[in-house]
Amino acid sequence: MRSKIVAGNWKMNKDVTGSKELANGLVAGLKGKTLNNTRVVVAPTFVNLTAVKEVAEGSVIEVAAQNMHQEKSGAYTGEISAEMLTSIGLKSVVLGHSERREYFGESDALLAEKVNAALANGLEVIFCFGEVLEDRKSGNHFSVVEAQISNALFHLDAAAWGSIVLAYEPVWAIGTGETATAEQAQEMHAFIRKIVADKYDVALAQEVSILYGGSCKPGNAKEIFSKEDVDGGLIGGAALQAEDFIAIIEAIQ
Ligand code: 13P
Repeated sequence: MRSKIVAGNWKMNKDVTGSKELANGLVAGLKGKTLNNTRVVVAPTFVNLTAVKEVAEGSVIEVAAQNMHQEKSGAYTGEISAEMLTSIGLKSVVLGHSERREYFGESDALLAEKVNAALANGLEVIFCFGEVLEDRKSGNHFSVVEAQISNALFHLDAAAWGSIVLAYEPVWAIGTGETATAEQAQEMHAFIRKIVADKYDVALAQEVSILYGGSCKPGNAKEIFSKEDVDGGLIGGAALQAEDFIAIIEAIQ
């Protein structure tokens, strides 16, 4: 179901003490605030999932993983399966982040397998995609995004889309301080909704939450979130400070 979502991707930041401190800061800062059906999600590192989950218990904060392996179990040293994530009570996983694609060689085909494994285990998928700077400069950004989405998600049946959240993260805006303009975000989000509508139907496309990610900060969040097809944000750097993250959550109200 389409809802407003502000999600924090903590990436490879914070040890267990820092993770708990941040989670405690968010719980305290959000207590008693009216969120108007906005979902708040944080994605700490694997080793800190349980600790953050304990802190978040009873609060509005949902905890998600940043990645997972596509197989159930076996000789995959260093990997974590969907079953392991659900065994600690997780309900969502981020897949397809550009850093996974770039540094760990994750292809659309691999991501399709990961998406299938996550959905088969009842996990919601926050699916990330976005073009690099050269694609935008050469005007290929729409076709790149369309390929990323169709290759990894368009094999799904309509019912599966109830567990998909899309996160458009132009790579040139991630961690660079250079955010997409609200107009650029809206233009791409409207395009994304259209290709989903063309593949499935308009009603389904209207129900999908589409988040924007890339240098989203307290100072620019309100304008980006004001756009019709922007349902929230996937936040990196600014999610590492409770005050900033809360300010971003407030910007969507
Ligand atoms: P920044 O907000 O640090 O640009 O990161 C965005 C991101 O990659 C979230 O997944």
